[in-house]
Amino acid sequence: MGEPRRRPGSAAGGERRYRFADGPAGGERRAALALRVPEVLDSQYGLYVWPCAVVLAQYVWFHRTTLRGKRVLEIGAGVSLPGLVAAKCGAEVILSDSEELPQCLENCRKSCLLNDLPDVPVIGLTWGRVSPELLSLAPVDIILGSDVFFEPKDFEDILTTVYFLMEKNPHAQFWTTYQVRSADWSIEALLCKWKLKNTHVPLQSFNADKEHLASSSLPGRHTIEMMIISLARSDGT
Ligand SMILES: C[S@@+](CC[C@H](N)C(=O)[O-])C[C@H]1O[C@@H](n2cnc3c(N)ncnc32)[C@H](O)[C@@H]1O
Repeated sequence: MGEPRRRPGSAAGGERRYRFADGPAGGERRAALALRVPEVLDSQYGLYVWPCAVVLAQYVWFHRTTLRGKRVLEIGAGVSLPGLVAAKCGAEVILSDSEELPQCLENCRKSCLLNDLPDVPVIGLTWGRVSPELLSLAPVDIILGSDVFFEPKDFEDILTTVYFLMEKNPHAQFWTTYQVRSADWSIEALLCKWKLKNTHVPLQSFNADKEHLASSSLPGRHTIEMMIISLARSDGT
């Protein structure tokens, strides 16, 4: 994955707007949600909205009626678009990013403030690390992670954190989107090792099979996939 490049219409240190909607345009019962997120173009991945974030946010938006009152944790949140949609739709959200990247955590906080969500907690959670923050985390129903599988060396750390949370919350699901960057990358063996299973979610099932989503030209022509990871049963299914 190369350095983020500036996209047309985005200024360094600027803001971007995303609009989620359903129903026919102009229809009386059309639901919509508009969000603003800070966008600092920098080499740190968490300061930039990735195509996967728009797809996961669309999944959250599409399933918003099931999210009311659910406890949601976003990991590797960066600009936090999926977590913000969940919070606006009535979920109790906690945002997290690496405890070693204070600028990313600051960006999560900025996203909350820009969207009148000052009470959403932002915590440092580094994948693979059993920290006091992870140990003291409140119960969770849904873990969100957009474009967290971008560096193969981190894959097992991500899944150990997810497994740790699912052991404590066996009903929890990990909703995650990833960008296909190499056909050689796979998490299948790691899922098996950590007694997790994944279910592929077709993009068309939540109206995300488009180059333009949420009033944005992301995800463009990138190949984005969505899956739901959960604990496998004792018989491995
Ligand atoms: C490719 S960016 C995706 C950001 C955001 N989720 C999105 O899709 O726009 C990867 C994110 O993972 C975070 N990250 C990287 N290494 C991490 C680690 N070891 N533990 C926790 N978060 C990490 C980065 O700070 C960044 O926010």
